Amino acid sequence: MRRQWTIPALLATSALTFAGCDWMPGKPTEADKPVIQTTITNFHVLWTTHCSGCHGADGRWGAARPLNDPMYLAIADQEYVTRVVTDGVGHTLMPPFGLPQGGPMTDEQIKIVVDGMWEHWSNPAVASNLKLPSISGDTGSVSRGKSVFGTYCGSCHGDQGNGGLAGSVVDPSYLALVSDQALRSAVICGRLDLGMPNFAGYAGGHKSSKRADLSPLTDRQISDVVAWLASHRVEFPGQPYPDTTTIEASADDDRSETMAQAE
Ligand code: HEC
Ligand code: HEC
Repeated sequence: MRRQWTIPALLATSALTFAGCDWMPGKPTEADKPVIQTTITNFHVLWTTHCSGCHGADGRWGAARPLNDPMYLAIADQEYVTRVVTDGVGHTLMPPFGLPQGGPMTDEQIKIVVDGMWEHWSNPAVASNLKLPSISGDTGSVSRGKSVFGTYCGSCHGDQGNGGLAGSVVDPSYLALVSDQALRSAVICGRLDLGMPNFAGYAGGHKSSKRADLSPLTDRQISDVVAWLASHRVEFPGQPYPDTTTIEASADDDRSETMAQAE
């Protein structure tokens, strides 16, 4: 007999618990759900709505790689880009856009964006007379990559990669945010917008003086240098925490030096 009473009592308690959660502060309501605009079919509107926040207005000057780069569009194909846009890139800030993946775009809209990138920004002439590497590659050798880095990259990024004329490319926090593919794309296409030369040594249409006597990087060299960069990843980026006692002590030293100079 007791049991018959216990079950409804339990149900009532759980119903109360669920109802209770529903009014918890901060819980999104139906009205807060993002509206998925499946009817927009204009490339520029779709680009501005979904991509420009990271890849930049008109595909450049964003935090993520420029996508209006004709060399990138000569090397990456539409099937690859469609896959990246639909599924996103795991463990990075590139989100999935496909509806089934929880994203906001229909397959048709993704196709409009991808076709539009080629229609507006590609220029196959940039790749003529060059033996193009493939956009994705095998895992390379760390030791060979170290020597490729010394020859092709150290003049700007420092012999050990931790900064020179250009910034560090072995910083663990940077490496934690990007995939090996992003590193590979950077080595192949450079950063058109930031002066980093592409695999053939060209930056902004001119052969970089730092790469003047060097032949274009081969597919193998690209995989190797990516393996060397990736070998600097650490399990817990940002750790150990800086030792504040030494920071304070050296700040004190600086201060007393400045004061000594001032006197
Ligand atoms: C929240 C920021 C963000 C948004 C929004 C975003 N991306 Fe990305 N995207 C990234 C990042 C970061 C990467 C590099 C991921 C990695 O490390 O591989 C990336 C990578 C890519 C790549 C692969 C580049 C390569 O190395 O081959 C493509 C293609 C791409 N995005 C297209 C798009 C398109 C098209 C849109 C809009 C529909 C879009 N992205 C929106 C951040 C974003
Ligand atoms: C002529 C100088 C120069 C050379 C040579 C050079 N880089 Fe760079 N690289 C840059 C500049 C400039 C940037 C932009 C960021 C900065 O200023 O640090 C950059 C950025 C990068 C990035 C970050 C890209 C991103 O968007 O996340 C990577 C990775 C990189 N370089 C790797 C390499 C590798 C590997 C080589 C050799 C194959 C190389 N670089 C050769 C100048 C150079």
